[in-house]
Amino acid sequence: IDPSIDIEAEIDRLRHERKAVILAHYYQDPAIQDIADFVGDSLDLSRRAAATQADVIAFCGVRFMAEVAKILSPQKTVVLPDMRAGCSLEDSCPPAEFAAFRRAHPDHLALTYINCSAAVKAETDIIVTSSNAEAIIRQIPLEQKILFAPDRHLGAYLSRITGRDMLLWPGSCIVHERFSEQELIKLKAAHPDAPVAAHPECPAHILDLADQVGSTSAILKFASESPARTIIVATEPHIIHQMQKAQPDKIFIGAPGADGNCNCNMCPFMAMNSLEKLYVALRDLQPQIQLPEDVRLKALKPLQKMLEMSP
Ligand code: 13P
Ligand code: SF4
Repeated sequence: IDPSIDIEAEIDRLRHERKAVILAHYYQDPAIQDIADFVGDSLDLSRRAAATQADVIAFCGVRFMAEVAKILSPQKTVVLPDMRAGCSLEDSCPPAEFAAFRRAHPDHLALTYINCSAAVKAETDIIVTSSNAEAIIRQIPLEQKILFAPDRHLGAYLSRITGRDMLLWPGSCIVHERFSEQELIKLKAAHPDAPVAAHPECPAHILDLADQVGSTSAILKFASESPARTIIVATEPHIIHQMQKAQPDKIFIGAPGADGNCNCNMCPFMAMNSLEKLYVALRDLQPQIQLPEDVRLKALKPLQKMLEMSP
């Protein structure tokens, strides 16, 4: 990249030239969140991707999110600034092993968290996100057996709140597993009036210390509605950028890892995207998401089911 160019101005020029929409997740770098046309959680971003009139979707998030955009909007060009931006939950659920797990439990409905590959979605009955999982489970008849993949912590949390016994795939998110129970207890003691808001990808010992559990958008809503002046946030800390923008007078503290600070809890996959890579993606329309049509069509069904069942 020519060092003399103004990257932000170029992104702006290219987004108009290409008729592109820039979608970003709350875990992206603040500079990317600020330049995006829309920032949201996985469910909001899926809905936006399905509804957009743009020719190009520049997806600033991780690969499974950009794949969802392509599955729902196949006629659009979907670019991801860095194709290596994966997800540890996706990595913990290889498609062939998941297909074998399903075959071993043919009487179970396969409910899958959106954080998985298109190939795993293709083997799924209904997709859920952390925003709609509880509401979707409550619509499934009680006698229907359920298997849930790939996040065992989200699965265990959903089992607890709905009372449904689900067969859990043993996957997890490396970011949300890094919070330290001991350090969080110390932080709470130092801020006794500060509520803790946590993402359900956290293990149960962290969720047990939380006052509110929800998706990134639910955590943001809580942060703006809570009367507390200080709030402890147990999810990827880049979300604090949105909180601070909306509530400049409140204090948001990222929940700590074992080293006592929140920097070790950044998502290394989300961090692979940058403004420079976004500029190149809009300039070259590469790297592009491409999916085999048979996989896309199979993965579309459980995603449509999710959108139908989502409140
Ligand atoms: P949300 O759907 O809550 O934004 O979660 C996405 C994610 O990857 C959390 O780690
Ligand atoms: Fe995947 Fe965890 Fe990163 Fe979310 S925070 S994208 S679940 S690795």
